[in-house]
Amino acid sequence: MTRIQSAGTLEDLESVRVETLGRKGTLTLVGKEMGKLAPEERGRVGKLLNGARQKLEEALEAGKKAFDETELRARLDSEWIDVTLPAPGARRGHLHPITRIQRELEDLFASLGFAVLDGPEVETEYYNFDALNIPPEHPARDMQDTFWLDGGNLLRTHTSPVQVRGMERLGPPLRMIAPGRVFRNESVDASHEHTFYQLEGMMVDRDVSVAHLIYFMQTLLGAIFHRDVTVRLRPGYFPFVEPGFELDIQCLICGGPGCPVCKQSGWVELLPCGLVNPRVLRMSGIDPEQWNGFAFGLGLTRLAMMRYGIDDIRQLQGGDLRFLEQF
Ligand code: PHE
Repeated sequence: MTRIQSAGTLEDLESVRVETLGRKGTLTLVGKEMGKLAPEERGRVGKLLNGARQKLEEALEAGKKAFDETELRARLDSEWIDVTLPAPGARRGHLHPITRIQRELEDLFASLGFAVLDGPEVETEYYNFDALNIPPEHPARDMQDTFWLDGGNLLRTHTSPVQVRGMERLGPPLRMIAPGRVFRNESVDASHEHTFYQLEGMMVDRDVSVAHLIYFMQTLLGAIFHRDVTVRLRPGYFPFVEPGFELDIQCLICGGPGCPVCKQSGWVELLPCGLVNPRVLRMSGIDPEQWNGFAFGLGLTRLAMMRYGIDDIRQLQGGDLRFLEQF
């Protein structure tokens, strides 16, 4: 009994059981000797033996239960979970600065009656070049260094192919924008990336003029920057617009004196635009005698850099959370 009470482990208890109640245990052996006793003695000794066996079994059982309980309590202590405690806060993401600008502009243009169109990033030569009045061998093809794919397709170098898809799909009159990712096979530096975002815009109607173009561009820039920006228009050449313009804004990073983003010029090329070349309308089945239009190609990536004061374009696609979490 003392050994049961002082047993330190379940194994200690088990050895007490084997030594007393086991096949060769003391009590078992005594029981086997019973036959040798005189008949009148057997009753008395049998009773004593049974009593002792029962006490021993009860004590062993109680000891085992005590061990089980200690073990259970230890497990409960270590595995205990308070489901009423607040969960550790989940990390919450937010929209990328370019996505944010894109959505704002989609809302703005939708409110002006423009459809928001999507187009493929893998394009055919026809949509990316030919239908925009840039035939093979045309020097304008060299303006946009192209990632060519096997089989003659390419990664679109601008969102302008969606103009063509839009004209084919919607027919005149139409107002559309097409935001999206574009690709150029260029060497990368603080202001050039191989992958960036544009937002194409197009309006085809009767008697569209440069005045309409300027009106929409001013509305656009006012909404983007929430302040007056200084702009200038220069003649620009793109085969799919005639006349074509480059709309520049005064650099919002340095405000004029020059910095790496504006290549020390004080101005940032933001928005090429122009009136749609009649040849382009005709190729997409629109009669240029009846209809005309304007088009523009806004650099969404550059715009995000201007608005948030980002001076290195590579950070936008770099995926560094320390950078992205600032917005
Ligand atoms: N697609 C031209 C580019 O990326 C930009 C542009 C669009 C110019 C629409 C004029 C009109 O270079």
